[in-house]
Amino acid sequence: MNAPFSSLPPRVRIVDVAPRDGLQNEAARLSTADKIAFVDRLTAAGLSVIEVSAFVSPKWVPQMADAVEVFAGITRKPGVRYTALVPNLQGLERARQARVDEIAIFAAASETFSRKNINQSIDESLTNYAKVCEAARADGLPIRGYLSTCFGCPFEGSVPPARVAELTERLIQMGVYEVSVSDTIGIAHPGQVPQVLEAVLARVKETQVALHFHDTRGTALANVLAGLMMGIAAFDASAGGLGGCPYAPGATGNLATEDLIYMLDGLGLETGVSLPRLVEASAFMETKLDHALPSRYFRATHRRP
Ligand code: HMG
Ligand code: MG
Repeated sequence: MNAPFSSLPPRVRIVDVAPRDGLQNEAARLSTADKIAFVDRLTAAGLSVIEVSAFVSPKWVPQMADAVEVFAGITRKPGVRYTALVPNLQGLERARQARVDEIAIFAAASETFSRKNINQSIDESLTNYAKVCEAARADGLPIRGYLSTCFGCPFEGSVPPARVAELTERLIQMGVYEVSVSDTIGIAHPGQVPQVLEAVLARVKETQVALHFHDTRGTALANVLAGLMMGIAAFDASAGGLGGCPYAPGATGNLATEDLIYMLDGLGLETGVSLPRLVEASAFMETKLDHALPSRYFRATHRRP
């Protein structure tokens, strides 16, 4: 490996969030069957963690209303974890029915975003999530945590790294095995990533941190490299670069999984993901949507029929 990158983690875990973070934001109504076929294609591409849907209120995000049906239809490959967002005990009950492998709770580092996204203050949300975690732990379900707006808030602007670190630690104390430190609006850059990570890693271990970048300003891949150089080995990405949050104005798609895998393959880091099969999954989804997918690798290698 090239000398500057000789100390990067040799193996990287990717959480593909396209069926959730990607499709929650699409205007086109997708059928449940198409969502199932998409998840099955992501499984075939070798992804080991797939965020399939969200057990949120259908009044808030109608695109995820068929979460139970999507889980019932997918073909589960042994060893692959099929996960979903859970905002409250009602969502946990639906997640249990759907036989999820793990759940993800989602808090925020800024008050206004927390209020807009889940209609709760940060403290209220932590009280609510403590109950969800207790019940999920009793069921033996692994719990992942998201912390939104860690690099900036669409309503409040800058967010202190110390606040991000404190909330990350609180989520870990609640029983979350990993916090996905999230750049909800794609505003982070490689000058900022080490500042936030230094604060976070003073309180929790590298293995308890993942990074979740949206690619609004084209800095997501550079941010991943900064994260890798600080020992982080888990990243969220979205096939085709689908994504955005309906409650975060201006947020565009997540870092595209294809673009990420292309870079990681080039660095010689192992992911277990097949790039050609991933392109097949994205190509399938593109035929169901009313727009082209933003992934740069996908655009460079796939011609729309
Ligand atoms: P609320 O309106 O304050 O709560 O919403 P409520 O308890 O009054 O419920 C309202 C209605 O929804 C009720 O129905 C409930 O039964 C129903 P009604 O009595 O009016 O007929 N309801 C549910 N139905 C099904 N499943 C449930 C559920 N909960 C309530 N689980 C709530 C509070 C948290 C539920 C709502 O705000 C919500 O669902 N928010 C989710 C918003 C969301 O999904 N945002 C996008 C995901 S987060 C994200 O994208 C960021 C991330 O990618 C990281 C990053 O990039 O930063 C993760
Ligand atoms: Mg997101």
